[in-house]
Amino acid sequence: MTTDLFEKFQSTINDYNKLPVGELNPFTVRMDEVISPTEAIINGRKTILAGTNNYMGMTYNEECLKAAEEALRSFGTGTTGSRVLNGTYNGHKVLEETLKDFYDADYAIVFSTGYQANLGVIATLAGPKDYVVIDSDSHASIYDGCAMGNATVVRFTHNDPENLEKRLARIRKKDQDAGILVVIEGVYSMLGDQAPIKELATAAKNHGAYVLVDEAHSIGVFGKTGRGVAQEQGVEHLVDFTVGTFSKSVGTVGGYCVSNHPQFEALRLVCRPYVFTASLPPSVVASANKALELIKDSNLRVKLLENSKRLNKGLADAGFNMGTTGESPIAAIIIDEKFTAVEYWQNMMVEGVYVNLAVPPATPNNLSLMRCSLSAAHTFEQIDYMLERFIKVGKKLGVLT
Ligand SMILES: Cc1ncc(COP(=O)(O)O)c(C=O)c1O
Repeated sequence: MTTDLFEKFQSTINDYNKLPVGELNPFTVRMDEVISPTEAIINGRKTILAGTNNYMGMTYNEECLKAAEEALRSFGTGTTGSRVLNGTYNGHKVLEETLKDFYDADYAIVFSTGYQANLGVIATLAGPKDYVVIDSDSHASIYDGCAMGNATVVRFTHNDPENLEKRLARIRKKDQDAGILVVIEGVYSMLGDQAPIKELATAAKNHGAYVLVDEAHSIGVFGKTGRGVAQEQGVEHLVDFTVGTFSKSVGTVGGYCVSNHPQFEALRLVCRPYVFTASLPPSVVASANKALELIKDSNLRVKLLENSKRLNKGLADAGFNMGTTGESPIAAIIIDEKFTAVEYWQNMMVEGVYVNLAVPPATPNNLSLMRCSLSAAHTFEQIDYMLERFIKVGKKLGVLT
């Protein structure tokens, strides 16, 4: 008998089938109307958006909208081609110049998503004779970049420089000459913790390894001019490749990698997720470009972290078991049991607050989380509303006593 190709998904399907059909299914949320970066109509109800990674609230910024509209009219709805064929417009080059300026870097390449940036850069740079050494809590795009490439993949314990040091020493003992790429994230998205870049990168440099930092959740949020955690920690000189996304603080879609490596431009010829996909639409490129200009000189990150501190402190004071401290824009309540988390999420929707239900395998240490990502566009009234509803539901479900 032939194997049903879907057989391997049966336990996921079984779990999914335990969820209700309809509006209280966490995986079928539909935004019927988006009112602003912080509010939408979902299930006919005005809902506060507390889990969209729209850190700077850029999605409705007037200047970004105007730039996108003008580009849409002038250059059309899409490029219908790869960057290496017909898909490089003036806007793509301008955006790459803006990124070089933003990061004070020699080279910048724009990808169609942040996922593809990680996929492409990791899979291409780390070849068959090389090693890629990643933090165990890495995002799926980093794992997938490893899976797509031909390098030997080694994991080190999350944010543990000593463990990284050990792994690198072991690699060097085996192979003095191997190329090694160490991959870390500036901020880890589930629990909002920052990488100790100095310690990790120093271990890497001691063993002649390159360092890639994914600043997906930290561009705009950290650093004097919003470059991310490496800038915040004053260690940009230790980073060889910075990857990031336009899908969070920048408020649109797209990814990038910047570097000072003199051969960096070669990636445009050999990186398959750059070559074999269509480039970003002109309107997206224009709004990303405008948002980067705005983010650089903005003090929105101050308001964003104030918002996060307010929510994190309020939740901790109420007695929740918190996975976060308010040092990043993430607030995550740890819920003991996966299906209680689902119920929590459903109750929050009924109360008019959309948060992220984060459950294994997407979470570190198999945690179930009610995850919020705050925005600078949230008002204190909205934060207090979220807080009040979290407490109400927590009491109802016995999560808070
Ligand atoms: C750490 C990290 N890297 C990369 C990505 C992918 O970004 P994009 O949404 O642009 O594909 C994400 C998105 O969630 C992320 O959290």
